Amino acid sequence: MPFSRRSPLISVELAKRLDGLPPYLFAEIDKVKDEIRRQGVDLISLGIGDPDLPTPPHIVQALQAAAEKIANHQYPPYEGTQTFRSAVAHWYQRRFGVKLDPATEVLSLIGSKEGIGHLPLAYINPGDAVLVPDPGYPVYHAGTVFAGGDPVVMPLRASNGFLPDLKAIAPEHARRAKLMFLNYPNNPTAAVAPREFLEDVVEFAHRHRIIVCHDAAYSEVAFGGYCPLSFLEVDGAREVGLEMHSLSKTYNMTGWRVGFAVGNPHLLAGLATVKTNLDSGVFMAVQDAAVAALTGPDECVEEMRRIYQRRQEITLAGLKEIGLQAERPHATFYLWVPVPPQYTSSELTTRMIREAGVVPTPGIGFGAHGEGFIRLSLTVDDHRIREAIERLKIVGL
Ligand SMILES: Cc1ncc(COP(=O)(O)O)c(C=O)c1O
Repeated sequence: MPFSRRSPLISVELAKRLDGLPPYLFAEIDKVKDEIRRQGVDLISLGIGDPDLPTPPHIVQALQAAAEKIANHQYPPYEGTQTFRSAVAHWYQRRFGVKLDPATEVLSLIGSKEGIGHLPLAYINPGDAVLVPDPGYPVYHAGTVFAGGDPVVMPLRASNGFLPDLKAIAPEHARRAKLMFLNYPNNPTAAVAPREFLEDVVEFAHRHRIIVCHDAAYSEVAFGGYCPLSFLEVDGAREVGLEMHSLSKTYNMTGWRVGFAVGNPHLLAGLATVKTNLDSGVFMAVQDAAVAALTGPDECVEEMRRIYQRRQEITLAGLKEIGLQAERPHATFYLWVPVPPQYTSSELTTRMIREAGVVPTPGIGFGAHGEGFIRLSLTVDDHRIREAIERLKIVGL
């Protein structure tokens, strides 16, 4: 960069708030990936939760038409267009039987990650505790840290169906907590939550006056007749809760950056205040395309489920042959695979990359309680999955 040559190098320390982020654990694994790629190995990545399937054509066409409209070129209303919010409310009614007021109970997001990251800024003061699942989607922790909050881990253990044990939350933590993050169907464990658990969460939240933010990004990626619940279906949930939603996984739209938060209007208003001061909403043409997705035919979603289910079957059968046993999940496109006792999750990951050119994510990357597992993301086609299994068979684990 020309100007950096002229100006003296300055040394400015990173803000202290960044110190609270967990250490980056993948430096060693990244090095191995680079080294193997440089050797010309064709890596098969099962590491990233980013659908390989294209966005359905009717949604792409809706964007093309909407991008032509001059009115869409201006700043959008920060809370989302009326049409978008009404489409979300209709979708919620149709899908979950939950009635929402589009004017006060729906807020557009630049992807659900944005809403999750910003929510603590609205409600968390320095020193407030936030209950976060471990293993879990890292943004719950990061958003808490950026707001000066204190993330308090709720371990997700296989012995409890990867649900947090609410009775094990220390009274001191329950007293200090203002917010709990939950996510079902779950990333990374692929677990789902029964209604009774969600009822217990609502009771806990009322008793301790805690906001619940339920992340439902994977609610539509479910199999074998299993139909995930909305948190808002539970009696009393609306008084304490918000639900974060995304079009990313349902319609293969990760790159489009569109999602929404729904639920308690007062809680949404807090989040909206943060957002009006930091972002200017979702491109209106993208909102129009999201309307086409939410109000359009469901066949594309059914096809997506069929594809992931077939990949699940191929992978589970292959893993069995290799001697790895994973549960068949009811939802998500992940497999949460126990690591044989002779390895840590990072060691097994390194070995799979180095010797087979197959890239999983080590469970430790999702928190200390993710140790003992690797996550496989079934976001490559059947042929690549079969090839990954064949390569792993040759290596032998
Ligand atoms: C559990 C969970 N929540 C939220 C997101 C964010 O999705 P988006 O920001 O694309 O809506 C992801 C993405 O992988 C996720 O796994």
